[in-house]
Amino acid sequence: MDKFYCPNCKRLYCVNQAIWQCECGSFLDLQFKPKFPIKKILSRGPTLWRYREAIPISRDEHILSMGEGFTPLEAIEFNGHQVLLKIDYLFPTGSYKDRGATVLISKVKGLGIKKVVEDSSGNAGSAIAAYCAKAGIKCEIYVPQATSSGKLVQIQAYGATLKKVEGSRERTAEVVMEVASKTYYASHCWNPYFLHGTKTFAFEIWEQMGWKAPDALVLPVGHGTLLLGAYIGFKELKEAGMVKRIPRIVGVQSASCAPLYHAFKREKKEPIPIEKRETMAEGIAIAKPVRGRQILEAIRETGGEILTVTEKEIEVSMKEMGLKGHFIEPTSAATIAGLKKYLKNIKKEVIVSTLTGMGLKATGEISANSNSP
Ligand SMILES: Cc1ncc(COP(=O)(O)O)c(C=O)c1O
Ligand SMILES: [Zn+2]
Repeated sequence: MDKFYCPNCKRLYCVNQAIWQCECGSFLDLQFKPKFPIKKILSRGPTLWRYREAIPISRDEHILSMGEGFTPLEAIEFNGHQVLLKIDYLFPTGSYKDRGATVLISKVKGLGIKKVVEDSSGNAGSAIAAYCAKAGIKCEIYVPQATSSGKLVQIQAYGATLKKVEGSRERTAEVVMEVASKTYYASHCWNPYFLHGTKTFAFEIWEQMGWKAPDALVLPVGHGTLLLGAYIGFKELKEAGMVKRIPRIVGVQSASCAPLYHAFKREKKEPIPIEKRETMAEGIAIAKPVRGRQILEAIRETGGEILTVTEKEIEVSMKEMGLKGHFIEPTSAATIAGLKKYLKNIKKEVIVSTLTGMGLKATGEISANSNSP
């Protein structure tokens, strides 16, 4: 039987309980044994639910799916290096967050919960709102006042109640924590079911590469929901004997908000308190990542590293990707700027990176930051 597991005090909880946090205050993980029956996987349609036996939703009738996942893995050249890019803006809500939302809200539905709250820099809120709409679950989404207007419109289009909070992303998180004592918190940062959705990123890469793992993954990192999902996914594949090793995980942060980068450089176990500056990369502007310790452990365990990118580098990469046929939001462009830095110091490696969010969500912000007419 699956269990919630607290990595801090080691308590175990039944997964039929509507909880999202341990009594000791820590976030929870999941004890779950996945299976990878390749013939069955190949017999299913091109969605992330083809890895059904590796996703911890016990009953099929609880699954809420909009045909999400199995996104293209496209080979693109950067300065003479071939890199594989997972095109994860091709999800129903325009970002990879649907990987987590389809699994988390399926779980919420299975628990019989009728209302949830969530806080977000915009994309997780859109994804949770969309899947709640599909499930007929009410939801309230808390976002910072300055969130891209496209994301605000999108959240409301799904019928969610939008709550704008004055001040920083951290202030939004504080406000929702008060509400979360009364209403179920469908949090992408706290709830392990979200990570057991984002881990399908790893399964898809494994299948699309001919059941192999790449040498390295270059991924954006704010709260680390994609990074930790990729780590869990490849770890499960390794433990099941499906791949030899977990790829090196390289995280990319904005230089204006890099608590994990500074902790990594100073060999600290926890993120370092920082003075956050403005950044175009709103999705990764997270000063206090809930699972910061876990992110640092995953990166160190895989022999990876953390890189930072400047606002100028983000802008240049966004334009460059447009000219390669991909209109992405600034947060996604930060990943590409990090990827280009990483490529400067390596010789021959199989590298997978990703485009996590669609540019249409942030057209106002993109044109405001653009120097071209
Ligand atoms: C487009 C995009 N990419 C990457 C991320 C980073 O995700 P995380 O904060 O889980 O590391 C986000 C988060 O909102 C995002 O919106
Ligand atoms: Zn605990």
